[in-house]
Amino acid sequence: MTIDRATIKDQPDIERLLEQVCKVHADIRPDLFIEGKRKYTKEELAAIIEDDGRPIFVAHDDDGTLMGYCFTVTEEHRGFNDPPHRTLYIDDLCVDENTRGRHVGKKLYDYVTGWAKDHGFYNITLHVWEGNDSAKAFYESMGLKIQLYGMETVL
Ligand SMILES: CC(C)(COP(=O)(O)OP(=O)(O)OC[C@H]1O[C@@H](n2cnc3c(N)ncnc32)[C@H](O)[C@@H]1OP(=O)(O)O)[C@@H](O)C(=O)NCCC(=O)NCCS
Repeated sequence: MTIDRATIKDQPDIERLLEQVCKVHADIRPDLFIEGKRKYTKEELAAIIEDDGRPIFVAHDDDGTLMGYCFTVTEEHRGFNDPPHRTLYIDDLCVDENTRGRHVGKKLYDYVTGWAKDHGFYNITLHVWEGNDSAKAFYESMGLKIQLYGMETVL
């Protein structure tokens, strides 16, 4: 298995996995996610792939098949009440549904953590939807702890 920055050649496979993530979320929150859709248009995704501020990392197996991706966003914090620091936000992490449970997610997460350390980031943050129990268990097993709670009331 290899892990690298995504290139435009990965776009069709990334789109396929984006639909898988959307289905996971649509099963939990059909009021907020439409099954069969993707988070980004083709144009938006092509721009993100080229954006050094939003690196996407991809895992391929030995025959070049995309096994998983990790979308990230670099954040600079320069507020009045917090010490300047950089956060790497994991915007999306998905392993192909046929490949889950084989530690591809762990290898991607470890790679991204190493990349973030090498590039001077202070921390990694991400959001998990309530009800996505497998993702929650995965992130907990990676050692992540709750930083804050996001709350909601539907009107
Ligand atoms: C969450 C996800 C990325 C995990 O990737 P994966 O390759 O299947 O996970 P790994 O095999 O690397 O699991 C590593 C550890 O996480 C935990 N874990 C992973 N999946 C789990 C599950 N369904 N239930 C409980 N624990 C789980 C286990 O501790 C596992 O270690 P072990 O197999 O030695 O017990 C993958 O299931 C996925 O793509 N899910 C759908 C998309 C999604 O919900 N992404 C998160 C949105 S932000």
